Amino acid sequence: MFEEKTILTGVKPTGTPHLGNYLGAIKPAIELGKKASRHYMFIADYHAINAEKDPAVLNEKLKEIACIYLAGGLDPNHSVFYRQSDIPEIPEITTILYAYTPKGFMNKAHAYKAAVDKNREAGKPDDDGINMGLYTYPTLMAADILTFNTDIVPVGKDQIQHVEIARDIAGAINAHYNKELLHLPEYYVDEHVAVVPGIDGRKMSKSYGNVIPLFEDDKAIKKAIFSIKTDSRPMEEPKDPEGILVYEIYKSIATPAELQEMGDGLRQGKLGYGHIKNMLLDAVIREISEAREKYNYYMAHFAEVEEMLQEGAKKARPVAQETLRRLKDAVFGR
Ligand code: ADP
Ligand code: TRP
Repeated sequence: MFEEKTILTGVKPTGTPHLGNYLGAIKPAIELGKKASRHYMFIADYHAINAEKDPAVLNEKLKEIACIYLAGGLDPNHSVFYRQSDIPEIPEITTILYAYTPKGFMNKAHAYKAAVDKNREAGKPDDDGINMGLYTYPTLMAADILTFNTDIVPVGKDQIQHVEIARDIAGAINAHYNKELLHLPEYYVDEHVAVVPGIDGRKMSKSYGNVIPLFEDDKAIKKAIFSIKTDSRPMEEPKDPEGILVYEIYKSIATPAELQEMGDGLRQGKLGYGHIKNMLLDAVIREISEAREKYNYYMAHFAEVEEMLQEGAKKARPVAQETLRRLKDAVFGR
């Protein structure tokens, strides 16, 4: 399905990724990229400035996210790996797309609507604290996608609408000039990727403070795992593993045989909560230890990563320049 296709993945450098992000988004994106003939993978730093104004924080988050993707196995020789702000054609293309973007699309976009709803709940004016970057961000995202003649954009469900907006804008431009100036992208939602629960049983999320950290030391990971909620039933009491939080988290990381072993141990009253937490800890450490080493290396040698990003920009820019030229030729009748 992905051979002969151009896949584009964008990630905002905000927040420090946790185990749920890694298993639910980062690793699947890397795997998908490997299957595609062409894979563009970029860090959406122009999107990040809408919310984050401190350059030191922005820089740190960008470093983290770049190193996490490399540590997770992104191959910069296969995937074109770049920073959005290194491709000046993207904002230029965005400006052209604005002329074909109905304002109503932006009014309906989820991120803007969510910000308005939050203001209403707080009794503030609708547009309080909302900047034009946030308001118009689906158009910038459309440019991110359309610039590279993307076939498929892997997204979480919340981003489907934005890919549809990109399609609509491209469709409007193509219809106006009566030729395929821009390639229509499709979204792809991977239904097999599970939502990893956090240590309190809700979805693992940075906003709930219930995360298992990703690339911290074993002690920090152990601390999080040993604070996973359990009950006071004794070990000998046979238990249905379904619904036991440690087991639920284990599902996203264990092999089928390991999962079976934990399930049987709980059903037979042979494994206590301390045992199963240790089993989870071992699995998490096994899953991340190699990547963590690479992560620490890249964080300490960021100049190497910067070089990779510059190489990526060198590969991405000619494609962007070509799209921009096609658009300018049509729009200005050159
Ligand atoms: P958070 O909920 O921590 O704020 P984000 O909303 O920034 O995370 O999500 C970033 C990416 O990670 C998205 O693609 C999202 O689908 C994925 N993701 C977030 N939390 C989880 C989770 N608990 N399990 C699986 N995937 C997740
Ligand atoms: N809006 C996406 C998010 O919030 C990030 C993003 C920006 C993106 N541009 C993109 C994703 C282009 C895919 C394609 O997660």
